[in-house]
Amino acid sequence: MTVQDFILESYNSDLEKGSVKWSSPSNIALIKYWGKKENQIPANPSISFTLSNCKTITEMSFSKKEGKEFSFDVYFEGEKNEAFRPKIQTFFERIESYVPFIRDYHFKIETSNTFPHSSGIASSASGMSALALCLMSIERSLSGAEESESYFNRKASFLARLGSGSACRSIEGELVVWGKNESVSKSSDLFGVKFEDTVHPNFHEYQDAILLVDKGEKQVSSTVGHKLMLGHPFSENRFKQAHDNLSEMKEVLKNGDLKRFVEIVESEALTLHAMMMTSMPYFILMKPNTLEIINRIWSYRQQNNSNICFTLDAGANVHVLFPKAEQEKVYDFINSELVAFCQNGHYICDIVGKGAIKL
Ligand code: PMV
Repeated sequence: MTVQDFILESYNSDLEKGSVKWSSPSNIALIKYWGKKENQIPANPSISFTLSNCKTITEMSFSKKEGKEFSFDVYFEGEKNEAFRPKIQTFFERIESYVPFIRDYHFKIETSNTFPHSSGIASSASGMSALALCLMSIERSLSGAEESESYFNRKASFLARLGSGSACRSIEGELVVWGKNESVSKSSDLFGVKFEDTVHPNFHEYQDAILLVDKGEKQVSSTVGHKLMLGHPFSENRFKQAHDNLSEMKEVLKNGDLKRFVEIVESEALTLHAMMMTSMPYFILMKPNTLEIINRIWSYRQQNNSNICFTLDAGANVHVLFPKAEQEKVYDFINSELVAFCQNGHYICDIVGKGAIKL
């Protein structure tokens, strides 16, 4: 598929008003996307688990208007929110050629998250994917054509990508690949695709406990972070490594090799942080408690012959990943040893999910 396939040429703009609502989840990358080209094209492929409990619920009401200016109001958790406006304005500018009807309507966007606002969890993946899905539902009503489920999901992912790269991996579940990679036949730089190979039962209902080490604003925005990969002395090797890791991960997901899974996932997280530490300017995004948690996870894994592991986004919070079979024991460990390192003892229990839902 090419960009041309997503251009909406004609639609019936007689529809006066309406309303659509979607719930869309966050996702956690196992192979990390870090570095991008123009138009949110990833510098390397990534794969993520779609989550279940951390999600954004967005209702979009639309009514016909005069004039061609973008027009929208945003409400976050019931209150009018000005802070989100610039991001949505930019999103609309980037996607208008694919959904030209956005100039014909006024939109009331009412959005809320199931996770606490100031949890340090980025809501851009769930937020932008929910918005993209609402626009796709409106497009479906306006175009009259019944496009296939797969076209709908691909275009939703394509639009979400233009809002925030990793958001394109939040449309479907349970594993989504984004970025062209030789070993995943339908993979594309333009949108995320569901990982369709058989997944070993070891990875069914995989658990993710998100330990909130630092609930503050991100120290480095991902926009700035991605840019630091341009001209980074190690970037070419890193991009190649992500390709190799994805090819291997594909086999691991099939054969259920948890030991290798743990190695690849942790190495990916540490590599992402290593890239930030070795860029110019350089950053340390982990906090002392991040390291405490990592060391305790390593000791616990060794002492209990466990398959627990960690991954990190571009921040200090720790995602603790483990098989369903270890759920009880690992939560005992988290409650007895790790909560002490979380801000106000807060963590979120999540699990791999099946993707966004129309409400
Ligand atoms: O989608 P962005 O531009 O916020 O980038 C997110 C990048 C990471 O979360 C660090 C990794 C990933 O693949 O999700």
